[in-house]
Amino acid sequence: MLPFLGICKDFQYPERKSSFCIITKRQAGSIKDVLINSKHSEFDLPVNKLRVIHEFASGLAHLHAHNVIHRDIASRNILVSYSGVAVVCDFGLSRAIDPQPDQDVVDPVNFKETYYRVSQQQMLPVRWMAPESLNSGKFSRKSDVWMFGVTVWQVLTSCDQTPYETLATANQVIITVCTGQGGPMLLESLSHLPACLHALRDLVSQCLQVLPSDRPTMAQCCQLIKSLQVAFFFFLAEE
Ligand SMILES: Nc1ncnc2c1ncn2[C@@H]1O[C@H](COP(=O)(O)OP(=O)(O)OP(=O)(O)O)[C@@H](O)[C@H]1O
Ligand SMILES: [Mg+2]
Repeated sequence: MLPFLGICKDFQYPERKSSFCIITKRQAGSIKDVLINSKHSEFDLPVNKLRVIHEFASGLAHLHAHNVIHRDIASRNILVSYSGVAVVCDFGLSRAIDPQPDQDVVDPVNFKETYYRVSQQQMLPVRWMAPESLNSGKFSRKSDVWMFGVTVWQVLTSCDQTPYETLATANQVIITVCTGQGGPMLLESLSHLPACLHALRDLVSQCLQVLPSDRPTMAQCCQLIKSLQVAFFFFLAEE
């Protein structure tokens, strides 16, 4: 998580009653900037992608464990330092939600209570959003998991395209995602990944399930990525 340093009031325009959130500057910028600007660098290697994905998965799992949903997970909101450490940032859309253990999400009655309903006017990152967020303004830990899946997809494709690039309008994206074609469409562009990253493609597939209850929790995602890292190191050691 990006360290929070403090809050500063707007002394120039006190009538606006606005304040600024002071955060650390991450020198290398967002993971999107880094992936686009350093093609074929060390950062592009599968082992580093796996590490970075584990880092921001852990940040999101930490938020969920503290009953906060982020609601704007995307490669532009994952920052990277020069030493390559990734952190989750940009909490402008995040909200506190009712405490709810992850395993209770399968209960449809309790599940409703983990949602955060958004107003009609609010600007939202449509191309990263889960079907239930798009069609009924519902957000939960599981809608964050969908966004995490889209972000992992971005890392795996080195941010070469925006999600659903061939769809020109937000309306087309909404129809595609809400009719269950969003996941398959993104997964199609992962068909040429190196064999060592196939398990991450499967993870993206699980995160992009239409039914929220079919998606893993962030804690489960972290566990899986950690086990892939261990397997990767054994594989490298044997080579
Ligand atoms: N703490 C920071 N350190 C370094 N770069 C940052 C920091 N915060 C943001 N940035 C850079 O500034 C850019 C703009 O950030 P901003 O959050 O305003 O818009 P965005 O991430 O492109 O869109 P969104 O409003 O959906 O988050 C980011 O993409 C990132 O590259
Ligand atoms: Mg941002």
